[in-house]
Amino acid sequence: MDAIALLTRDHREVEQLFKQFDKLTERAQKTMKKLVTKMIRELAIHSAVEEMLFYPAVRTAALKADTRAGEAASDLVLESLEEHHIVKWTLSELEKMDPEDERYCAKVEVLMESVRHHIEEEEGDLFPKARKLLGQEMLDELGKRMEKAKKLAPTRPHPRAPDSPPGNLVAGLMAAMMDRSKDMLRGLLPGQKETNA
Ligand SMILES: [Fe+2]
Ligand SMILES: [Fe+2]
Repeated sequence: MDAIALLTRDHREVEQLFKQFDKLTERAQKTMKKLVTKMIRELAIHSAVEEMLFYPAVRTAALKADTRAGEAASDLVLESLEEHHIVKWTLSELEKMDPEDERYCAKVEVLMESVRHHIEEEEGDLFPKARKLLGQEMLDELGKRMEKAKKLAPTRPHPRAPDSPPGNLVAGLMAAMMDRSKDMLRGLLPGQKETNA
């Protein structure tokens, strides 16, 4: 699977979670929390892999191309990083909240709006430009690396951490180790709440 196909598949999976959330009633708080926990995990991994591998590859190719299209792609990557930044703050607030909070649903709605907008921009604008800049061979190679990176990426949002190389590679690895240990403990310890805190 090439890099763009992999990211697009992730997008469809996240949209499925959003659709499930849209169908929930207010009383289904336990299911709501479970769904949001899944959203946090999927979005944290997806954004980390984009930031560690995909965006830097597009940006490097864009700057090397030194064309107007390249410049536009580079600007789109920068905009994407800013959109990730806002989403990560929302995710980090949500992971500390409970569905009883009167602002919980409103925050999830804003999260879903922001992510849907971001996905639209990536698929409608950034990905076609990236496909032209990188070429199929590079996209295939990148896809393989991203598939592996998904297994090692942080599973929680880290809005204060660096989001571009080399800082994010080191910080991301450390964060991933902490996140995955916490995830494992949550599964092992009795009476753990279904949260990401
Ligand atoms: Fe994406
Ligand atoms: Fe993204």
